[in-house]
Order: sequence, then C-alpha cells, then structure tokens
Amino acid sequence: MSSSAYQEHAARAAGDPDAYWLEQARRIRWHRAPTRGHEAATQGGQQWFADGELNTAWLALDAQVDAGRGEQTALIHDSPASGRQQRFTYAELTERVARFAGGLRELGLAPGDRVVIYMPMVPEAVIAMLACARLGAIHSVVFGGFAPHELAVRIDDARPKLVLSASCGIEFDRIIEHKPLLDAALDEAVHKPAATVILQREQAEASMHPGRDHDWRAVEASASPVDAVPVPGNHPLYILYTSGTTGKPKGIVRDHGGHAVAMHYSMEVVYGMQPGEVFWAASDVGWVVGHSYIVYAPLIYGCTTVLYEGKPVRTPDAGAFWRVIAEHGVTAMFTAPTAFRAIRKEDPDCALMRSYDLSGLKRLFLAGERLDPATHDWLKEKTGLPVLDHWWQTETGWAIACNPVGLESVEETVGAAGKATPGFQVEILDPDGETCGPGVQGAVCIRQPLPPGCLLGLWRDAERFASSYGAAYPGYYLSGDGGYIDEAGQIFIMGRMDDVINVAGHRLSTGELEEIVASHPAVAECAVFGVADELKGQLPLGLVVLKDGATQSAEEVSTELVARVRAMVGAVACFRRVEVVPRLPKTRSGKILRRTLRALANGENPEVPSTIDDPAILDEIRAAL
Ligand code: COA
Ligand code: AMP
Repeated sequence: MSSSAYQEHAARAAGDPDAYWLEQARRIRWHRAPTRGHEAATQGGQQWFADGELNTAWLALDAQVDAGRGEQTALIHDSPASGRQQRFTYAELTERVARFAGGLRELGLAPGDRVVIYMPMVPEAVIAMLACARLGAIHSVVFGGFAPHELAVRIDDARPKLVLSASCGIEFDRIIEHKPLLDAALDEAVHKPAATVILQREQAEASMHPGRDHDWRAVEASASPVDAVPVPGNHPLYILYTSGTTGKPKGIVRDHGGHAVAMHYSMEVVYGMQPGEVFWAASDVGWVVGHSYIVYAPLIYGCTTVLYEGKPVRTPDAGAFWRVIAEHGVTAMFTAPTAFRAIRKEDPDCALMRSYDLSGLKRLFLAGERLDPATHDWLKEKTGLPVLDHWWQTETGWAIACNPVGLESVEETVGAAGKATPGFQVEILDPDGETCGPGVQGAVCIRQPLPPGCLLGLWRDAERFASSYGAAYPGYYLSGDGGYIDEAGQIFIMGRMDDVINVAGHRLSTGELEEIVASHPAVAECAVFGVADELKGQLPLGLVVLKDGATQSAEEVSTELVARVRAMVGAVACFRRVEVVPRLPKTRSGKILRRTLRALANGENPEVPSTIDDPAILDEIRAAL
C-alpha cells in the first residue's frame, strides 16, 4: 500500500465511521450481513452492526474449514511447564469445540447464559471459550492467578450457570491447585452455579463434589457435536473483568459482530499478518491480550496461534521465547515489555538467542505498559527487527495507537506508542476540556463513537460506564491515561491519572488494595500506590498508620497485611512492601496527598502542596521509606 494509505483510512474512518466500518464488515462472513453502523447500547456504550447475524466461533472455525483451512494448524499448545506440545488443525479444533459445546448444552447452557472460566494455559481453555461462543453463551474468563475472593466477586457479578476449571496450573516448577481455590470461591459466592466442569490434569487430581462437579473428559466424550447458534451482531460474546478505581471490578462487555470485524481488521492493519502465518501472543487467556490475540483474532484471520504455558525465563531458561519462535515458525510475536526485561536481566547479551533460527520472525509487538526506551533499544539491537509499541486497554480490546504496518512502512518513534489507529480519534484534553497543543500533556481521550471491537459498556452497570468513562468530557471516552501527542501525531502514553497501577503488565486497583489493608483491625488509615520497579514497571507500596493502642508490632502488622492481600487478591498483586508511618500527609480538608506520596516513594522531590495541613509530615515519610 502507498504511504498515504494510513491517512486515507484514518480520514475515512473519522469522516463517516458507519460507512467505513460497514465496508470493513463486508470482509468477514456473516449469516446475515449488517446494514446498520453504530448506535447506543443498553450496557451504556455503543454497539455496532446490531441487525447483522453471525457467530464468532463459527467464523473462527467452521468458516475457516469451509475456506479450505481444515488441515492447517490452528492452535499449537507449547507447554514447557508440563513438558508437552500439542497441535490442532482447524478441522480438529472445530470438532473439539462443537463436541464440548454439545456437552455444555446437555448441562443446560443456553444463549445468553454466563459461564465463568478459571483455567490455566491449556488448549481446553481455548476450547471452552469457543464452545461458549458457539452456543451464544457469554464467557467470563478469570485469570488463574487471582485468589478465591476475586473469583467469588466475579461469580456474584456475572451469575454464571456453569463454571469451567482445571485441577491445576503450573507456575515455573510449582503446581498451583485450582480446584481448592474454586471450591473456596464457590463457598464465598452468594450466587451458586448449577454445575462445574473440571479438567483433571495429570499433575494434580481434583476432588469432586458429587452432583455439582462434572469430569471434563466424560462430558466431552459422551456429547454429540452441535452447530453454531447465529446471534445478532450486538449479542454479548464475553465479559472480562478489569480493575477500576474501587474494589469492585468492571465487567467489560464485548460483542460478536463489532469484535469480529475489529479482530480481522487489526490482524492486517496493526500486525501486518497474512492468513496462514503463525502469530504468537505470549500472554494469558485471562487477560484481554489473550482473548483478542491468542484466541479470537488469529483464528478469525486464518492464522496459526500459539498457546504458551511457560514463562520468558526459567522454563527452562531465558532462551525460551527464541525457542518457541524458531520451533513454530512464528511470524510476529506480542508480549509485555516486562517479559523482555526479565530476559535481559538473565541473558543481557542474548547468548541463548544464537542457537535458534529466527529468520521467519518479521516483527515484535509490545503492549500492556509503556515500552521504555532502554528495553526497546536493547531488543532492537539484539534482533534487528521492528520493535513496535502499541497502546490499548481491556476496554478497547485492540490497539488505540499503533504503528500501522499493514498500511505503511513504519519507522518507530522511541517512547511513543504510535499513531491513532484508524477509527480512534485520539485527543489530549486539559481540565477545562480544551484540546491541548502538540507536546502538551493532558488526559488522553477518544472522541465518540469508539470503533467496533470496543466495549458495549459494563455488565449490568450502564450508570458506572457513564460515570467512569463519559462524564468527565461529554462526547469523549476517558481512557484514564495521561500523555501527549507530538507534531507528527505520535501518541506518548505517560501513565495512569487514576488509582490504577500496572504490575508486570497486570492491571491492579490501588483502591481495592487500600480497602483490604484498611480492613485490618490495627490499621487506622493507609495509602497504597505504585512505585517504579526496574523489572515489573510498578510495584504496590502500602503506607499505614496504626491505631492508637494497637498491641501488635509494626512488623507483625506488615506481615499480616502482605498475607491478607495475597489471600484476597492473589500472588499476582505482588504486594510485598508495607511501611508503618506515624501520620499521612493530608490536605486541610482531610484528603490524603497520594500524588505527593507517590513522588516521594519514587525518590523525587515533590513541591510541597499549598493545601497540606502540616509540611513536616513529608520529612517523617521520607525517613520511613
Ligand atoms: N496462576 C497462579 N499464580 C500466578 C499466575 C497464574 N496464572 N501468574 C502469576 N502468578 C503468581 C506468580 O507465581 C508469582 O507468585 P509468587 O509471589 O509466589 O512468586 C506472583 O503471581 C507474581 O507473578 P508475576 O508478577 O508474573 O511475577 P513472576 O516473578 O512469576 O514472573 C515475569 C515475572 C516477568 C516473568 C512475568 O510477570 C511475565 O512473564 N510477564 C509477562 C507479561 C504478561 O504476560 N502480561 C500479561 C498482559 S500482556
Ligand atoms: P489493561 O486493561 O490491563 O490492558 O491495561 C490498560 C492500561 O495499561 C492502559 O490504560 C495503560 O495505562 C497501560 N498500557 C497498555 N499498553 C500501554 C502502552 N503501550 N504504553 C503505555 N501504557 C500502556
């Protein structure tokens, strides 16, 4: 394509979004093609293609077999964790999904019912998602690293008919038994699902509750394959919970139609892929990256996808990523910068890369957190390939800013996430809602309507959608990130402006962590915020003030708080540091000065806010850190 193709696409998508996206919608197969573009959705946001009819799982599987891809590998499970590898052709994956969907239907699953999936990175997790989609049921995958309480909160919000899980996951060389965690979550949850289906893995045997828990293999073996159920374009495909600024996660709702169009479009425009090539997103099916780029987009586009059950390091070494790329002929890979920081730490010269043939690899994509220039430059030097940042969120489901390799040849701008992807009209707004000039930082916002593939709204909470994303700047979607756009249109994302932090590419709410810390009987008040970490980007730090007369020592309370967060949220919170301080700095009206605390903890020398009630507190905090 010509170098002006990007401008042409961006201008057409902005000028007449409905016409542009209806044109893109014609590039995928529908049971009934849509004639309507965007309109308001009941979940609070916008929906696309409501009068079209399709089924995403059919599009990702049956339609590929129909198009002659039956014998092509659809899914490669590469699991250094278990020492196994498995491949599924499109025909085989279609058969497995159709059969498992039949089993779920026999358990009473109907269109619109919810299914919570709490699984490790095994092929059955992908099969489960696609089987739900095939029936028009709505899946909600909960990351396997979350503790029972987090799972219970999601079960109570989604109210699933079924829960699908496995006996265990594997973290490096540790077996994490999932079933006891699921049992604890089901005990805590008010909502009681009708049944569970449990995959027994050879590494651990789950004990089953007769009458409630069903054996996965038995369900699949006795079932008959079923056809996909065509659903309206705006029918919910999944709910994916993500951290907001409070303890209650947000249930992001995504649809069949708009999502399928966006996934297909992005494989070409954002990732420059061709059908038949191998795409690898080294993430987890519990995160949005896993939903979009392990499961749906590669299959909808006719690529081979890699499901990797391992880590960048220590499975068995820091050459693991290079091995997977070479062994499976990966064309493009996608992961979070933290994964490459982990590799760089263990193998700074990339000595382990030299034993692998990486000639098939064309480009690397990074997202989930800012791609810091040091990691970018190291990776570029070692691979000699384009190292492309792109910015997106669980809410958008695909890249808001990218280097659109499918539309033009790209020279990456180090430190920037790229330009606005066609369909996203990104603007930087100041507190008065005025557009900031080039290079001026403000709130990164997207002018409505958002393109297809973004959230329809929040599950059963249209009001929260409006207050979280729409109220600050009417007519815009508030991303929650701060940043600026330069003269060339490059978007620089500088970090969250709210209480969300990013730990190893995982999004956490400091508000939620604070709620847990504050509930300890010895804690009078607290502040939890993110501090910079070389490997994981950010790590949470808790500052606590003990109640007068508290009998426990500061050390005892700290240990209990760390254990409490681990038990309530999960190990993935990485909440390991608590400091007991005599007081917290506040405004005269009693608001804790979190931004000042964050700056202090990051070793900066913040200006003393004029609203502070007692500036001497800052010296006390400095001494404690
Ligand atoms: N199930 C159970 N526990 C899990 C888990 C899962 N799926 N994922 C992580 N955990 C646990 C880890 O075992 C660890 O436990 P520990 O405190 O007992 O050691 C804890 O949660 C923290 O995990 P993490 O922050 O991932 O640290 P790590 O040291 O295990 O690994 C990296 C560090 C950099 C290797 C790892 O974070 C990584 O591969 N990141 C890639 C980024 C990524 O996948 N991002 C997703 C969005 S794109
Ligand atoms: P999540 O919803 O978990 O994908 O997290 C989304 C958040 O991660 C964004 O709002 C950003 O704060 C951050 N993020 C994701 N990708 C990038 C990126 N390429 N650059 C900077 N921040 C990013």
